[in-house]
Amino acid sequence: MDLRGKTAVITGGASGIGLATAKKFAASGANLVLGDIEDAPLAVAVAELRADGAKVVGVQGDVALEADVIAMREAALAEFGAAHVVFNNAGVAGGLTIGTPKKIWDWVLSVNLDGVINGVNAFVPLFLEQNEGHVINTASEAGLVGVAGMGPYCASKFAVVGLSESLFHELAMTGKNVNVSVLCPNFVRTRIHESERNMPSELVSYNENPMAEVARRIAKDAVNSGIDPADVARAVEDAVVNNRFWILTHEHSALRITELRLEWMRGGPSPMATLWSASES
Ligand SMILES: NC(=O)c1ccc[n+]([C@@H]2O[C@H](COP(=O)([O-])OP(=O)(O)OC[C@H]3O[C@@H](n4cnc5c(N)ncnc54)[C@H](O)[C@@H]3O)[C@@H](O)[C@H]2O)c1
Repeated sequence: MDLRGKTAVITGGASGIGLATAKKFAASGANLVLGDIEDAPLAVAVAELRADGAKVVGVQGDVALEADVIAMREAALAEFGAAHVVFNNAGVAGGLTIGTPKKIWDWVLSVNLDGVINGVNAFVPLFLEQNEGHVINTASEAGLVGVAGMGPYCASKFAVVGLSESLFHELAMTGKNVNVSVLCPNFVRTRIHESERNMPSELVSYNENPMAEVARRIAKDAVNSGIDPADVARAVEDAVVNNRFWILTHEHSALRITELRLEWMRGGPSPMATLWSASES
């Protein structure tokens, strides 16, 4: 798809990978709807993009809520008369696998998985009707291999990979010009390690345990050693323009962890326990 004159809706568009992709898409001539739960950073992002000449509107909303994602689609239709790309990208991280209260699991799954489900439900019927559209779902390398200390996040990201593969096959069966990509990065320098800024306030007390604090510190160092979000944005645009399903920004580690899982299934040793060891192997 040539993005010039097309309209893209990006969730989690006020920060990190979403914002970098918004800048990239705008430079390629796309109209933008940025959805985000954080009002103030969203207003700043919209103002910056407009100052650079982009046609962009911001919609504050929570991707876990179906009505909020529908409102993002309706904003695209009202402002630009169409929607052609949806980047279901908003996400949060939090919680170990052992000892994490169900409410934290629910929060992570509601944003990372329900957010993608709501995006697919809101946009795919429209794309099929107009016989044009591209869905990008943000998963992670944590959706390709289970890692220590990230149970809720891994569960949500494995689900996004599975959902995206199913969607790929169903779209192929329709014979329509509607496509899907799944984004599986290793670490990227963003604010993902500060996800708790968006945690519902009633959950904060559930999150205060010493192990979670250790995990947060390790995640911060790993994220800060990651690649630039602009590199991810380039890979996302390339997948839309050239219609590629897998977006493996760290191709070496993504392929290596997948090979190691296969060896494990065949009776070999279990693969590395952490994503940072994946990037080093
Ligand atoms: N940074 C990494 O190392 C990395 C690696 C793999 C995958 N990812 C994924 O990339 C995606 C983008 O994250 P990022 O790294 O840019 O982090 P980020 O924190 O910089 O950006 C995430 C954005 O999502 C927004 N958001 C959070 N909850 C929301 C909700 N309920 N509704 C709407 N918006 C919400 C935040 O306000 C923020 O603007 C996430 O899905 C994340 O899981 C990140």
